[in-house]
Amino acid sequence: MAESLLMKSALSFIVLLFILSNLEADAEGKPHGFSRVISPAAIGLKEEKLSHFRLYWHDIVSGSNPSSIRVAAAPSTDTSPTQFGIVRVIDDPLTEGPELSSKLVGRAQGFYTSSSQSDLGLLMAMNFAFMEGKYNGSTITILGRNHVFTKVREMPVIGGSGLFRFARGYAQASTHTVDLKTGDAIVEYNIYVFHY
Ligand SMILES: *[C@@H]1O[C@H](CO)[C@@H](O)[C@H](O)[C@H]1NC(C)=O
Repeated sequence: MAESLLMKSALSFIVLLFILSNLEADAEGKPHGFSRVISPAAIGLKEEKLSHFRLYWHDIVSGSNPSSIRVAAAPSTDTSPTQFGIVRVIDDPLTEGPELSSKLVGRAQGFYTSSSQSDLGLLMAMNFAFMEGKYNGSTITILGRNHVFTKVREMPVIGGSGLFRFARGYAQASTHTVDLKTGDAIVEYNIYVFHY
C-alpha cells in the first residue's frame, strides 16, 4: 500500500518535471524538434577574419559573344536619358589584372538595372563566383546602388557561400576604362569582407 503510494507520487513528480521542462522551453520561444542552439565550433567556425580582394570586372556588351545581355526594358527605356528600366543579365569575367587576358579568377553572375530617372544609377545584384585556388566554388553576394559617374561607388556585400559563409562587408567599384564606341567597360572592384 505505502509502496504503491510512493510510486504514484514519484511518477507524478516525474510527470510534473516533464511538463515544467516543456513549459520552460516554450517560454524561451524554442520550438521542439526542428531547432537547437549550437556552438560555432560545431560547424567548423574559427576566428572571423577580414579579407581584401582586388578584381577587375569586364562588362562586355559588344561583339558576337557578349558577357552582358539586355533582357528587358520598358517602352520608354530607349528614349530615357538614363535607359531607365533596362535590365541586363551578366556573366562577366573577373580577372586579376585590368587586361581581359590576365588570370581569370571568377565570374560576376547576376543582373543590373537602371533604376534612376535623373542620373545613371544602377541596382546591381550579383554573385562573384570564384574559380581560383581555395576560393574555387565559393561566392560573394553583392547587392547595391552603383552610381556609375561617381569616382568610387560603394555597394554592400550581403552574404556568401563556401569560404564566405556569414560574409558581410562592402565593395568599392571604380571605373578603369570605358570604350565609348562599344560600351564595353572595365571596372576595378575592391572588396572588403569579414568571413570565417
Ligand atoms: C574549380 O572547381 C571545378 C569543379 O569542382 C573544377 O572542375 C575546376 O578544375 C576547378 N578550377 C581550379 C582552377 O581549381
